[in-house]
Amino acid sequence: MQLMVLISMPFTLPFTGIFNRPTVKAVICACTALLSSLAAAQQVSSADVDRGAYLARAGDCIACHTAGPESPPFAGGLPLNSPFGIIYSTNITPDPVNGIGKYTLDDFSRAVRNGIARDDRRLYPAMPYPSFTAITDDDIRALYAYFMNEVAPVNHKPPETKLPFPFNIRLSLIFWDFAFVKHERYKPHDDRDAQWNRGAYLVQSLGHCSACHTPRGLGFQERAYTEASPVYLSGAVVDNWYAANLRGDAAAGLGRWSEADIAAFLETGHAKQIAAFGGMTDVIENSTQYLHKDDLNAIAHYLKTFPASDEKSSYNPGAPTVPTELAAIVTGEVERPGAGIYQSFCAKCHQITGIGKPDKFPKLAGNSIVLSENATSLIRLVLEGGKTAQTKRGAKPQKMPAFAKKFTDQEIAEVLSFIRNSWGNEAYPVTTRQVSSLRHALQEKP
Ligand code: HEC
Ligand code: HEC
Ligand code: HEC
Repeated sequence: MQLMVLISMPFTLPFTGIFNRPTVKAVICACTALLSSLAAAQQVSSADVDRGAYLARAGDCIACHTAGPESPPFAGGLPLNSPFGIIYSTNITPDPVNGIGKYTLDDFSRAVRNGIARDDRRLYPAMPYPSFTAITDDDIRALYAYFMNEVAPVNHKPPETKLPFPFNIRLSLIFWDFAFVKHERYKPHDDRDAQWNRGAYLVQSLGHCSACHTPRGLGFQERAYTEASPVYLSGAVVDNWYAANLRGDAAAGLGRWSEADIAAFLETGHAKQIAAFGGMTDVIENSTQYLHKDDLNAIAHYLKTFPASDEKSSYNPGAPTVPTELAAIVTGEVERPGAGIYQSFCAKCHQITGIGKPDKFPKLAGNSIVLSENATSLIRLVLEGGKTAQTKRGAKPQKMPAFAKKFTDQEIAEVLSFIRNSWGNEAYPVTTRQVSSLRHALQEKP
């Protein structure tokens, strides 16, 4: 716009008809003002690009839209497991043929916030547009500026998603969308402070924390998108990981975490000597470790305002730190199931007292994920092992070995039940059946 005015200036100038000096001077003044505002406009757009890059981090676009560590960023092709089959992410580099090179700002906004691609294709909600719908206009513009100007175009066609009937009929997603998605931009709550609102915005929109942490309903929809519902972020199983309860529960939620603990966890993958693992490690490595301190604190502040849900576990730190059962093994008396395995295979890292080793091995006593009512994540971790997050500011990564081949389902159930009920921990025991069904599910995974 401004450029148009500027270009047309020399042509309109002769027709003003008045050549007396003050007017010419005024025109020159207007002209320089325009020039400097044009420069400002360019500056704004490069600031937009930088902000867009930051927002793309906050939205973790790279995690889903990149096929693997060796693949070109944002060129798509990552297979995402859904209950209906595999959905491949698409190429969102500005390549005009295989990417989003032909997308206008409006097209981009419609795809990201409304789930409709440029060719009117309805997007599967594996693309978290039900959360992204809350992104503000300003942020969408910045994201668009980033993708169009800074991301390298990649001429690569990712595999096509081919779901079985009836899920292959994308048009039917109109009904899904109508039933389950509220198309609303984030509206600040006047009765809350700016920090709370910033946290709420990041968690609900770009952060799409609820895509993993909120339980899903029969239509596979998230059962809530805001804190107005008591099930929001109360924990859910995604891709065979249990994404923890982030509400105020004292044992299995964030009740005993401070805001500083939560911010540190999102930045480094460690806090309270609890280590992130599974799906959360990727979120931290690709996304939250890059967020500014202010934003991390805002997220933490927002989460800490959630009341508890109704998890039944408890933690009683006053309990004896060395369970008497372990003392019993030492003196050769009756052994509690799981205690022997713990002592022989786990204690060298997590310690007999369950306190772990700072910056190396997580403590298990009082650990909120160990106390989660849903033990899916714990079972999977013991079966497959894991590696702590690798971040700019966090501790050096450490590994937990895989035990799938070493132990039977019953042994794994016993050792997990043991750690869930020692050192003051009190949570439901894990059953052999739970372990065998998860072992099967993981073997069937493509
Ligand atoms: C949890 C995974 C996930 C995340 C995070 C994600 N996307 Fe997607 N996105 C997908 C999948 C899967 C598709 C393809 C869906 C389909 O084929 O119906 C998609 C499709 C798209 C499309 C449509 C492109 C086309 O023409 O097919 C755009 C644009 C897009 N995403 C942009 C983004 C942006 C921008 C971000 C970050 C703010 C982002 N996505 C984050 C999974 C994700
Ligand atoms: C891809 C799925 C996924 C997304 C998206 C995700 N998380 Fe998680 N999160 C998990 C899983 C799985 C766990 C359990 C493993 C662990 O504790 O590290 C977890 C654990 C956590 C924990 C530790 C809880 C505890 O009691 O140990 C916090 C805090 C957390 N997530 C916050 C967030 C926030 C904030 C967001 C959004 C910015 C988010 N998560 C997005 C999967 C996810
Ligand atoms: C070589 C050291 C080592 C051994 C042996 C070990 N672990 Fe771990 N454990 C770790 C590390 C490192 C992590 C963090 C894993 C991650 O972040 O992916 C961990 C994480 C865990 C967690 C999740 C806690 C958290 O905050 O991340 C549980 C539960 C756990 N281990 C149980 C066990 C059990 C049960 C055994 C024995 C069967 C065992 N571990 C053996 C090193 C070990």
